[in-house]
Amino acid sequence: MSNMSNPTTKLSIRGLSKTYNKTVALQPVDLEVKTGELLTLLGPSGSGKTTLLQLISGLVDVTTGNLVIDGVDQTDAPVHQRDIGVVFQSYALFPHLTVRENIAFPLQMRKVPADEIKTRVDDALAMVGLAHAGDRSPRALSGGQQQRVALARCLVYRPSVILMDEPLGALDRKLREVMQDEIKRIHRETGATIIFVTHDQEEALALSDRICLMNNGQIEQVGTPREMYEAPQSVFVADFIGVSNIFSGTVENGQLRTDAGLLPLSADAPAETCAVMIRPEDVILNGTASWALKGTVVESTYAGSETRVTIALDGDKSLIVRRPAKSEDMARGLAVTVSWDQAHARYLTK
Ligand SMILES: Nc1ncnc2c1ncn2[C@@H]1O[C@H](COP(=O)(O)OP(=O)(O)OP(=O)(O)O)[C@@H](O)[C@H]1O
Ligand SMILES: [Mg+2]
Repeated sequence: MSNMSNPTTKLSIRGLSKTYNKTVALQPVDLEVKTGELLTLLGPSGSGKTTLLQLISGLVDVTTGNLVIDGVDQTDAPVHQRDIGVVFQSYALFPHLTVRENIAFPLQMRKVPADEIKTRVDDALAMVGLAHAGDRSPRALSGGQQQRVALARCLVYRPSVILMDEPLGALDRKLREVMQDEIKRIHRETGATIIFVTHDQEEALALSDRICLMNNGQIEQVGTPREMYEAPQSVFVADFIGVSNIFSGTVENGQLRTDAGLLPLSADAPAETCAVMIRPEDVILNGTASWALKGTVVESTYAGSETRVTIALDGDKSLIVRRPAKSEDMARGLAVTVSWDQAHARYLTK
């Protein structure tokens, strides 16, 4: 069954959901994934990321909804008929086979001719920077190298869609960053559509063309990293992506009444505003604005490229301020005022 979907849409998900007995793992979600994009599914533990990935791969049957790939309904297509490669966190390589044999395995299963297998395995090994290690045992490789082998074993099929479920979860920070660059390069070179699961918002910001933020088996917001950071639509998104200062309250005569005091709202603030969010880099200390909150410095942490200052405000509210390197020190107990440019405030309605 084909549909009239936009030609740049690779994957179109409509009302897809999963219920196990009475547990709702994923509520009905809609999502469009564009051809060649790298989309991350980001969200806390239990938010439904793996479930959504499993429904896309076909490893798990859907409860409701449908999945269209390249304009063809694949909701009930068996796993091996989908043009999809999957890389999981536990890369599960065969220890008794060499790296080369591990990567060749899926092609042998599909009865690909031997000379073609050789070329494709060579290509996949080169792609992940392991051309020299083909004859080694996976046991003789580091965690990062084993992760590359798992990636090569997926790339060797040349799937046009690649699903990755926390593939870097087991690696230390340095190695994760190296592998993130590697995945970006492979993404550029293969043109594959990649759906990447992580619960690490920094990783999502660094890697993604777009981020799909999940919460409680639902999609909270989908957008570019910049949109998610600069224009969060809910308290959950503002809180999850980056460091934020959120003031909850109620609208009163064009201001927001919060525990920390009355905050100004600009004329375009929605009437349903329930919180104001300001990023640490946008807070002004001891500025000249016509309004300001009074506070006290409780902590000042030097971090090389910036200094992070925590300010105590009324109502037990604390505020984080990011100051550029080389700003003068702020002593604990120092009285300050805080304010911000209205253009930097974000008004949240849920
Ligand atoms: N096979 C299953 N049977 C019953 N409940 C399940 C099953 N798989 C997942 N769930 C439930 O569905 C919800 C979503 O799980 P899922 O594994 O998709 O979350 P996740 O976002 O991938 O979390 P994590 O970051 O911990 O991997 C959870 O509450 C989980 O307990
Ligand atoms: Mg998971």
